[in-house]
Amino acid sequence: MNNIYLVGFMGSGKSAIGRVLARMTYRRFMDTDALIVEQEGMPIPQIFEEKGEAYFRRVETEVLKKLTKEKKRIISCGGGVAMRTENVEEMRRGGHIVLLSAKPETILKRVARDENRPLLKGRKTIEGITELMEARLPHYQAAADITVATDDRSMEDIAAEICRAFIPSVR
Ligand code: S3P
Repeated sequence: MNNIYLVGFMGSGKSAIGRVLARMTYRRFMDTDALIVEQEGMPIPQIFEEKGEAYFRRVETEVLKKLTKEKKRIISCGGGVAMRTENVEEMRRGGHIVLLSAKPETILKRVARDENRPLLKGRKTIEGITELMEARLPHYQAAADITVATDDRSMEDIAAEICRAFIPSVR
């Protein structure tokens, strides 16, 4: 299907970079979190609170499966998507998987004022982020076709690197 899936930790820039990449490649941009919010009719913290994380993960996989039927999309995936084997298999069927990486210091700066990520509640410290990141990184890396570092770089520069990596398959 030639989709490009952006995966990585919360605050790694998946949505912002995805939008730039979509513009650059004349493709449509989609965001699993945004689709979940639309489908469920409530914000993510409320889904976690009222229905629980397991429910959120089920809906996330459902949404990903729907998206994988599409062609040539730029898809920003919530930070937990690449943690499930089922999701990784789905993304592999649908196209390329790009891991966006960032240092815990960079992530902390980006998420400092954010209240929309339940898993960062009480974790907005270098130690808290490092701990969760270390648990996730091996899964992210195993899933990814390529890893692109995002620290101290412009979104255009990062998007151009992803674009180059998949030319001629992207266009
Ligand atoms: C999550 C990341 C969030 C969102 C939810 C859970 C995670 O998406 O899906 O809060 O498990 O890492 P972003 O990575 O877009 O913040």
